[in-house]
Amino acid sequence: MLQNVTITLLINLIFMFSTGTFVSSCTYKAVGDKVVISFDDAKLQEDNELRWIHNQRRVYWKKGSQVKHSELNTDQYGSLILENVQKDKSGDYKGIIYDAGGKLIKETEQHLCVLEPVPEPTVMVECVEKGVNLNCSAVKKNEVVSWMKNGIKTNMTHAVLHVTSSELKPGDNFSCTVSNQISKKSAKEVKPLCSDTGPKFLGLELWLMLVILIGGGSFLLILFIICLVCVCRCYRRNKRKAKGTLPVNYIQKHIVFA
Ligand SMILES: *[C@@H]1O[C@H](CO)[C@@H](O)[C@H](O)[C@H]1NC(C)=O
Ligand SMILES: *[C@@H]1O[C@H](CO)[C@@H](O)[C@H](O)[C@H]1NC(C)=O
Ligand SMILES: *[C@@H]1O[C@H](CO)[C@@H](O)[C@H](O)[C@H]1NC(C)=O
Repeated sequence: MLQNVTITLLINLIFMFSTGTFVSSCTYKAVGDKVVISFDDAKLQEDNELRWIHNQRRVYWKKGSQVKHSELNTDQYGSLILENVQKDKSGDYKGIIYDAGGKLIKETEQHLCVLEPVPEPTVMVECVEKGVNLNCSAVKKNEVVSWMKNGIKTNMTHAVLHVTSSELKPGDNFSCTVSNQISKKSAKEVKPLCSDTGPKFLGLELWLMLVILIGGGSFLLILFIICLVCVCRCYRRNKRKAKGTLPVNYIQKHIVFA
């Protein structure tokens, strides 16, 4: 536990030193958005010097009224304007304002993360032994998955959801939702049907029950016949003993035909 904390702290420290200052968290924007990166409350004066640096590379430099370098646009307040922002505009932005004498007036550092909106996912159904695997397609890292069963959100968050045959009723529907910091999309609902789930699974059980019933019934019937034969024979033997002497050919005839 303590080790983990130490490691996390170390990583943070390394991050802080490598970027110069501590950049707390990303400002998330979607590809195509218009992004304005501004100094909180500074007012840009006519004679000020303004610099914007993206990932250690100068993208804007104005000294007084003289624009010396301008890859990106700024507004009257000195804010950096990114129209139709693309992923390569992600990263660290540092803005600095100096007065005419070169004295620092204002400084800002912000982190921008430009993301693609998530694509609409689909749920792929894979029948497996004793259940079904539902695979929420096209999940990238940093995307969060959630699952809905019959319109109710479940607490499952893996890209693949395993549903056992016993949890699956015929007609159940499932859908997954994928989201990242800037977008959220849900798949169309699917109703999984596997040959060993649902009604057919019940059919198998019925069939088994039938076999057991017929088997058991036959066994009982055979037992009954055996008993019947035994009883008959005993009865006959007793009768013979009681009657004592009978003509030999009479006995033979009756034993043979019995
Ligand atoms: C889910 O589907 C993806 C393809 O969209 C595939 O690469 C992955 O292996 C599947 N996962 C499972 C567990 O079937
Ligand atoms: C999925 O289940 C929910 C709740 O039972 C229902 O409102 C919805 O219409 C079902 N969707 C489909 C496609 O059957
Ligand atoms: C998820 O929900 C099920 C009931 O639907 C519950 O048994 C399980 O403990 C929950 N898991 C978590 C991690 O909350």
